[in-house]
Amino acid sequence: MSKTTLYGVLTAALVSTALVPSAAATATTVAESPDISVTNVKAHLDQLQSIATSNGGNRYTGRPGYRASADWVRSKLDAAGYTTTLQSFSTSAGTSYNVIAEWPFGDANHVVMAGSHLDSVSSGPGINDNGTGSSGVLETALAYAASGQTPRNRLRFGFWGAEELGLVGSKYYVNNLPAAERDKIELYLNFDMTGSPNPGYFVYNDNPAGNGARDDLTAYFTSKSIQTEYIDVQGRSDHAAFRSLGIPTAGTFSGAEGIKTSAQAAKWGGTAGQAYDPCYHRSCDTINNLNLTSLDRQSDAIGHMVWNYAQKDYGTTNPPTGGNLLLNPGFESGATNWTGTTGVITNSSSKPAHGGSYKAWLQGNGRSSTENVGQSVAIPASATAASLSFWVRIDTAETTGSTVYDTVKVQVVDGATTSTLATLSNLNKATAYVQKTYDVTAYKGRTVTVKFVGQEDSSLQTSFVIDDVVLGTS
Ligand code: PHE
Ligand code: ZN
Ligand code: ZN
Ligand code: CA
Repeated sequence: MSKTTLYGVLTAALVSTALVPSAAATATTVAESPDISVTNVKAHLDQLQSIATSNGGNRYTGRPGYRASADWVRSKLDAAGYTTTLQSFSTSAGTSYNVIAEWPFGDANHVVMAGSHLDSVSSGPGINDNGTGSSGVLETALAYAASGQTPRNRLRFGFWGAEELGLVGSKYYVNNLPAAERDKIELYLNFDMTGSPNPGYFVYNDNPAGNGARDDLTAYFTSKSIQTEYIDVQGRSDHAAFRSLGIPTAGTFSGAEGIKTSAQAAKWGGTAGQAYDPCYHRSCDTINNLNLTSLDRQSDAIGHMVWNYAQKDYGTTNPPTGGNLLLNPGFESGATNWTGTTGVITNSSSKPAHGGSYKAWLQGNGRSSTENVGQSVAIPASATAASLSFWVRIDTAETTGSTVYDTVKVQVVDGATTSTLATLSNLNKATAYVQKTYDVTAYKGRTVTVKFVGQEDSSLQTSFVIDDVVLGTS
């Protein structure tokens, strides 16, 4: 981690500590309006400008400046503890990428998403369009992680590629989501241009399903004495793909090529008769093409919505509120913090990870054998409840029937006593990941090892692939 990166993370942590009560101190209090640091957002924009500058002046799809932008955003999110995925797809201008980041807590059946396109046009660095939305969403994600909260719902952030080629990345993402996963997305919030130099404060009004979120955005700006106008963006940004699936969407926008009226200049300041962004899609859309007041206010609006909807009650039961006690829970650092059979933790491309590229792949040998992976963890005596959850994918060559041949046991080792919470087998075949959750409240005040133990019989493989393990307390 570079000095600047560390400083950025620490700044976010300090800001959050000052304004957000810690989860442990007030488990049920929601800080609904964090101050998203515009200094940090601006630092992210400086980074995107420097990526463009060192890559031919743009961050366009298929060019190195785009890939560098995606890798950089992903590395920031990885370092903050997100489960990230780089999703690649092809376009007329070459390969592009979506970066997806999920905060691995909260009810996975209720997903709240915020997103922004990360690509620029070919003619410039794309700082207002759309370094601004990307940097505001990124800083919100980092601030949420630093706040130490565990949300009621799942938070997922999307950084889309190839928006400028016709919303290609966001369409690719939704088209490749299994129907069951689409149904879990409760809200998608889009931010495309938030720091226009001659800004307007527009709230999307193009999806009746998102009217609740639209009204929350409007009310937020009103509470800050900022007047807004609705805008029907006619599907001109990445929320369109979500909207077309019936998912509620909302967003904000500070204006592109449109001309500010004198009535708008009277309420928002700036210059009437001039475009909101005279450098829209031009080479002058640089780090100097920003209004920092707009960037600050709209980034705070992103934070407000994410904090607020993270806790919205969509029918969630017993959300853990105390964070994950496990280290390296998604196996992305390889075997670090885990013990057990060598080679179980792998980034082999023959089995997909639930998040990232590493996972624990137990068995799949097709001969008599046993393998295990585990981690020691101290469950605080002060916990009211504790649960162990993980994602598992099971494929098998055993014929379907009712006979258990190959198993993985989910165990808790407490001193000399080993208890089996569950046994999964070839009968639990599931080639899409499913999440399992078990109550481990009985172990509060104990230091135990949570352990997955696989066993196979003499023929026909079963592969138990485990990822994103959470030992959460409330
Ligand atoms: N999607 C447009 C672009 O990236 C910007 C835009 C956003 C225009 C929202 C209208 C409304 O160029
Ligand atoms: Zn654009
Ligand atoms: Zn844009
Ligand atoms: Ca993983």
